[in-house]
Formats: sequence, structure tokens, C-alpha cells
Amino acid sequence: MQGGGDRDSFSSKFGVLAALAGSAIGLGNIWRFPYVVGQNGGGAFLLIYVIFIAAIGIPVMMSEFMIGRSAQLNPVGAFKKIAPGTKWHLAGMLGVVSVFIIFAFYTVVAGWTLEYVIQSVKWILFPDKFGFASMDNVALTQFFSNHYESFTSGTWRPIIWFLVMMFLTGYIVISGVKNGIEKFAKILMPIFLVLLLILVLRSVSLEGGREGLVFLFKPDFNTIKEAPFRIILEALGQAFFSLSIGMGTLITYGSYIKRKENLAGTAVSVVVADTSVAIIAGLAIFPAVFAFGIDPGEGPELVYKTLPVIFQNMAGGLIWAFMFFLLLCFAAITSTISMLEVIVAYFSEQLNMSRKRATMLSMISVGVLGIICTASDEVFGLFNASPDLMLPLGGFFIVVFIGWFFSGEKSRQELSSDGAFKIRYHRLFMFLVKFVAPLAIAFLFALGVYSKVISIFPSLG
Ligand code: PFF
Repeated sequence: MQGGGDRDSFSSKFGVLAALAGSAIGLGNIWRFPYVVGQNGGGAFLLIYVIFIAAIGIPVMMSEFMIGRSAQLNPVGAFKKIAPGTKWHLAGMLGVVSVFIIFAFYTVVAGWTLEYVIQSVKWILFPDKFGFASMDNVALTQFFSNHYESFTSGTWRPIIWFLVMMFLTGYIVISGVKNGIEKFAKILMPIFLVLLLILVLRSVSLEGGREGLVFLFKPDFNTIKEAPFRIILEALGQAFFSLSIGMGTLITYGSYIKRKENLAGTAVSVVVADTSVAIIAGLAIFPAVFAFGIDPGEGPELVYKTLPVIFQNMAGGLIWAFMFFLLLCFAAITSTISMLEVIVAYFSEQLNMSRKRATMLSMISVGVLGIICTASDEVFGLFNASPDLMLPLGGFFIVVFIGWFFSGEKSRQELSSDGAFKIRYHRLFMFLVKFVAPLAIAFLFALGVYSKVISIFPSLG
């Protein structure tokens, strides 16, 4: 059933934005962004990141929408349909493989979030058992740090929470695009934002928090001197990861966008929302990191160690933690849904499976990968590093395709929705997708790949 007329689509403009923002905003903003900024020196990294978002992220996102909406298919099918008889579908395949890998480790981290939801209930109900009352911030930081270590090094709980998150995602995807995704995203994302803002207020008012703001916003290029090309490639990878681009997720979601929607406007709104949330997360984390004397370069555990301590410093304490982690779980699910949707669309459209079977098969295969991730720090690290290499590569093919193989006429048609919108930016867009984005990505990739690989496999160095 390729490109059949009964394909599902998003029902309203707000629904489209909610689903796209739901995909983009998630653990990438709250968990990954703060720790990679922290590891890579703060302000200078943020500046590079924002430049990539604007100059490369927006054009790649628009390109994915154009491919998906014009073909009305999954990433592999879309390339096959638009460029029949060529090898372009391999770019779609690369995307599907990237999604598999990302889905696996991402759902593992989503499971950690669930652990914190459940633990918060215990912490709230039995504060005396844990002795919170007598702990200062140093002791609290140590407590949550120990909790993180013992939880992630355990065997069963990480697997169980991972499986719970995966089945929840599967359940929502089987129930269909409109009902499944839009309904939840519309209500919960705004609440999450409010909670995040409250957290910022508390964090910036902590004694010693100012230093965190300086760290986040004052670019000091000495901080990236050590491994500039690896760090710059990581900024690019994080930009792609956070925007959910470079792997065909937004080709798939683009195929559900109606022709009357404005693709450029949609892309800009999603990018602004996603980047704002990442920066707000930074504003919530870094003042507290400095106030509590935590090392900003701590790594993946950074937010799991820092956030609970901020909550303990608020009236109401860990009740906030419970709400926050619950909503973070939800934000993660709106992202995992979009990943599973890619794989299901691929299986069902290319391999002619029913959506239900396709979902089952995806869950079994991702389930195995995810369990391996929970068992091995090395595999987890490798998977978590993969976006920095795979997504820029995928993004490269996507912009080259739009810039050089998709005809100018078709690109006008898509971007203007057949003439309904003015597209005065069209020449700028073509310049970005033909030259700026591909050259920048190729250059950064070529320079960064070696030091990135060495950072993953130090024994090769
Ligand atoms: N953009 C999501 C986040 O920042 O949490 C992560 C993500 C979603 C990656 C969807 C890949 C994807 F296909």
C-alpha cells in the first residue's frame, strides 16, 4: 500500500506542532544537552550549537518535511518513489538503522526516568528512613549520586523500566497516529514547560548559582582547544539529535502533514521551541551544578544527580521530583513514539506487514538491543555516541538530495504548498541546502571523525 489515499495524517495545525515538538523535545534537551554542554566547556559549545541549529538544522528539517510530504511514505519508500532506480533509498536505510540504535539506548534512559518517578514516591513517603532532614546539599548530592550508581549498575531494574517504556510506546503507536500522539502531547507538554520554568527560578536563586550562568553563556574558546574537531562534531550531532533530524524521523512525520500546512513556518516553530527548552534546561541545571559543587563534566549522570538536590531545596521537596520525572517520562515517550513510528512505517509499507505485526517485530528487535545496552556500559556508550556520527551523515544525504536532485520546481511547490504561501526565502534556502549545509557537514565530519572514533575506542589511538 504505497502512498495510498487512506494514510493517516495530523488533524490540525496545533496537532502537527504538538507532535513535532513532542518528537524534538525530550531527553535530548533535558538529559543529553546539559551534560554534553558541561563536558565540552559551556558557553563556546552553546554558541557553536546555536549556529548549527540555525544554519544547518532548519534547512535539514525543511528538507525532511519536503521529502516526506511529497512522497507520502517512510524514509526508504520516499527515496524510492522520488528517485526510482537510484541508490538514494540507501540514505533512507541509513536513517532507519540510526533510529534503531537511538531508540534502544534512548528508551533505556527513559527507563531511568521511570525509576526516579517510582523512587520519588518512596522518598516522599518515608523521608525519615533516608534521613533527608539531616542532610545538607553535599550529603544530598552524595545520596543521589550513590542512588544513580547502584541503580544503573544493577541488573533487573534497568531492564524492567526499559521494557515498560518500550511497551508503553508500542501500545500508543498501535493505537494510531492521531489518537495516539496528538491527544497526549497537547496537554502535557505545556505543563512540563511550566515545571521547568519553576525549576529555573529556584536554581538561579541558589547561592553561588551565578557562576553557572557564566559557564553556560560566556563563550571561552580555550575550553574547546583540547579537541576542537571532536567537540564541534559533537555540537552538530547534538543539534541533529535534539531536533530529531538526520535519520528520517521527520520524513515520516512529514508524510503525515497535510498539504495546506506551511513547512518552513512549521520547521522554524519546532526549532525555536526545541532550542528554547534545551537552553531553559541549561538554566535549570548549571546554576545548581555550581551551587552544589558538582563537576559540570560529570557525564550522563549529571541531571540525575543534580535535579533531585534542587527539588530538596524547594518547598514541597521531592513532590516536585515526582511530577517532574513523570512529565519527563512523558516527554521521552512522545520522542520514542516518533522513533517507533519510523520503523513501523518502514516495515509496514516496504515489507507489507500489518501495523500491529510491524510494531511487535520492532519491539522484539529493539528490545534485544536495549537489554544489551543496560548490561554493558561499553555498548551503551557506543550507542549514545552514534548520533554524533550517523546523524550528520544522514543529514548530509538529505540536503544534497534536496539541493541537487529534487527539482527547483518541485521544491517551490512543496515549500509554497502549491502556491498558497509566499516563499521569498527560497533562494536563501536553496543556497543553504546546495552549498552551506553539505559543505559544512562534510568538512566537520571529515575533521571530527577521527578524534570522535578515538574518544569511543581509546585503544585505537
Ligand atoms: N529529539 C529527541 C530528544 O531530543 O529527546 C530525540 C530523538 C527523537 C532522536 C526522535 C531521534 C528521533 F528519531
